[in-house]
Amino acid sequence: MTAFSAARARPARDDLFLSDVLEGLSRPDKSLPCKYFYDAEGSALFDAICTLDEYYPTRTETALLHARAAEIAGLAGRGATLVELGSGSSVKVRILLDALDAPALYVPVDISRDHLIAAAARLAGDYPAVTVVPVAADYARGFALPRGVAPERTMAFFPGSTIGNFRPAEAVAFLQGLGRRLGAGARLLIGVDLRKDPAVLEAAYNDAQGVTAAFNLNLLARINRELGGTFELERFAHLARYDAARGRIEMHLRSLDDQTVRIAGHPVHFARGETIHTENSYKYSVPGFRRLAARAGWRTERSWTDDDRLFSLHWMVRQG
Ligand code: AVI
Repeated sequence: MTAFSAARARPARDDLFLSDVLEGLSRPDKSLPCKYFYDAEGSALFDAICTLDEYYPTRTETALLHARAAEIAGLAGRGATLVELGSGSSVKVRILLDALDAPALYVPVDISRDHLIAAAARLAGDYPAVTVVPVAADYARGFALPRGVAPERTMAFFPGSTIGNFRPAEAVAFLQGLGRRLGAGARLLIGVDLRKDPAVLEAAYNDAQGVTAAFNLNLLARINRELGGTFELERFAHLARYDAARGRIEMHLRSLDDQTVRIAGHPVHFARGETIHTENSYKYSVPGFRRLAARAGWRTERSWTDDDRLFSLHWMVRQG
């Protein structure tokens, strides 16, 4: 029997896109929240990024999950509830579902409702013994779990180093909130990108085919599509550089001219060379990330890396 419930896949909270855009572009250092990358176009571009030679995180994490799946299954125990944050197409979780001992419940949480429901329905069809309860929510703002989920059976899954898109203080607050929501004894499997040769990092965000540039510029195209923006995309350039002091890749869009753009009728001026900061992607050392998680109340029980130490996976338990 296919156990699939769409009951929790309610619409996401009111769209704050316009106010977030106007607020971010009225600052002296212009910025836009990176969560707005992921409309249908942006999600497709991100999927394309994940297949690029230069973008090592996806294939490295996938290989690590395959290599450690049996060990993870042993740690998770029988009948686990799997809660995935930002589940997207629910691809990597299949590696876990294939390995876990009789997983009982899968709760994919994602802001993109239609995509979530389609992915959850496919997954429920492929894993008829697992009850699938999709939750349409911005997981960074909070979400409701199905009732009666025992913390010590629960395992959250947060792959892809998405935690790196939070500033460290925000990452601590987010992990603290997640721990409170899941309860003492809950487990977390999290993927974290590691610090490494800046040339490798910068290549990953400046691919030769220009897919990452298109992904970055799509944010302006989205503003045009949804908010009546007048951005001319050829007058902005993609910029990605590693800030070694902060341990982060920064992505920006640089204005190639002195220009004024209108968004929902509001004028926004750009000086030539001025940038919009669109994303941070923090990179950690293994001990550095474990310290950050400890500040948020999570004890790391295992950390795994690939042989080249490009990427890491951590198994953590929420302290009481
Ligand atoms: C989703 N996130 C972890 C990606 C990253 O690497 O920070 C987003 C991304 N930005 C550019 N390429 C990929």
